[in-house]
Amino acid sequence: MSLRLAVIVASVRKDRIGPQVAGWFLDAVRQSEFGEVDVIDLAELDLPIDLGGGGDTELFTKRLDWADAIAIVTPEYNRGYPGALKTAIDTAKREWRATPVGFVSYGGLSGGLRAAEQLRSVFAELHAVTMQAQVSLQYVWDQFDDEGTLRAPDRPASAAATLLRQLTWWGNALRTARATTPYDG
Ligand SMILES: Cc1cc2nc3c(=O)[nH]c(=O)nc-3n(C[C@H](O)[C@H](O)[C@H](O)COP(=O)(O)O)c2cc1C
Repeated sequence: MSLRLAVIVASVRKDRIGPQVAGWFLDAVRQSEFGEVDVIDLAELDLPIDLGGGGDTELFTKRLDWADAIAIVTPEYNRGYPGALKTAIDTAKREWRATPVGFVSYGGLSGGLRAAEQLRSVFAELHAVTMQAQVSLQYVWDQFDDEGTLRAPDRPASAAATLLRQLTWWGNALRTARATTPYDG
C-alpha cells in the first residue's frame, strides 16, 4: 500500500498566502515517496469551536485517520499559530497518536519558527511524533514572484526534501508498528 500524506493548510485568513505556500510544498511532495496526498484546507471545513462534534468533525477525523503522515502548512500570528489550527488539533485525539507530523511554517521575521515550536509542545501531549526537519519561509510576502514561483528555491526545496524524507521514514515505521501493536499510550 502506498504511503499517504495529509497536508493541512492552517491559515483561514481573508487574503491569506497559505494556499500559495501549500502549492509550492505540494510540488515537493510530488518528488517524494508519498503515493497519495490529501490537502485539508481548514478554510473549507466547518469545525465547531465548542468541540461538540457536528459540522465536518467526522469528515476531518476520518481524513486524519487515513494519513500515514501529516504536514502542517502554518503561518505565525503574534508569535503563535492560527486559532483555527488549534480548534482542528483539539477536534481529534486518537487520530494524532503515533503519527508523524511535520511543519512548513512561514511568516515575517521569524518565518513561523515560534509558531512551530509551540506546535511541537502541543503535539507532545497528543502522542504525535514531530519531525526534526522543518521548512521555514521568512518574510513570505517577498518569497514568491507573480507566477507564484519561489525567487530563491534552493534552500526551501532542500528543507522540504529532508522533511519529506523524515516523514516517509516515520510514516512507514509507525504504520508497521501500529499494525503490529496498537498504541495504547
Ligand atoms: C494578526 C497577524 C499577526 C502576525 N504576527 C506575526 C508574528 O508574530 N511573527 C511573524 O513573523 N509574522 C507575523 N505576521 C505575519 C504573517 O505571518 C504573514 O502575514 C503571513 O502571510 C500570514 O499568513 P496567511 O497570509 O496565510 O494568513 C502576522 C500577521 C498577522 C495577520
